[in-house]
Amino acid sequence: DHVVVTLDGPAGVGKSTMAKGLSEALGIPYLDTGAMFRGVAWRLGRNAWEWDADRLARALEEIRFDLHGSGADSGLSLNGEPLGAEIRTEEVGMWASHVAKLPVIRDFLKAAQRAVGERSSLVAEGRDMGSVVFPNALMKFFLDADPEERARRRYEQLRAMGREADLEALTKSIRARDEQDRNRAVAPLRAASDAVVVDTTRLSEEVVAATLLETVRQ
Ligand code: C5P
Repeated sequence: DHVVVTLDGPAGVGKSTMAKGLSEALGIPYLDTGAMFRGVAWRLGRNAWEWDADRLARALEEIRFDLHGSGADSGLSLNGEPLGAEIRTEEVGMWASHVAKLPVIRDFLKAAQRAVGERSSLVAEGRDMGSVVFPNALMKFFLDADPEERARRRYEQLRAMGREADLEALTKSIRARDEQDRNRAVAPLRAASDAVVVDTTRLSEEVVAATLLETVRQ
């Protein structure tokens, strides 16, 4: 059977970096489910969260995800097109958070995520991987950190990519997304009861990575 390790937590906590590292160490692909929500939001466009159910359902029928590669080279494509930098803006993040409130979108992506998990072992990264999508995962982690620290990390990350960044705006956006992700009716952001919770606020990337790997290998 395939092995699934889940990694959940709020925006900007470092899930992607950790999922990449863990999948590399375990030699299995990682699935960035935030990228799936971002991809759907980006594909549907602004205000899609206000469409009626029929229109949404029809649009979702036209969307297919594929996962290829392994470890740090895992890649997700939407209808055959690799998802790239276009979905990585805070704006598309906010759109994603809006569409993520809709049961029709969550059900569609839950099915897509489980289908990927049936084909391959995975490190699955997101908000509800341990709590909803993969309740029987072998190992579940929930990463957390103070919002100011998460905004600071996002800021450094954007700067390192040579992008413009505004720390105050990032802090605001991260708080707004937290609020929305934690308070939605369907699959609100919270740790699964059997998840190992790691507060990373005062931990370096190296220490968090080593902690996760040690815990998985025990
Ligand atoms: O992790 P990332 O910032 O890319 O996720 C974008 C948005 O997608 C989140 O703010 C959240 O609302 C939504 N999401 C979700 N469930 C997941 C992954 C992401 O609701 N498993």
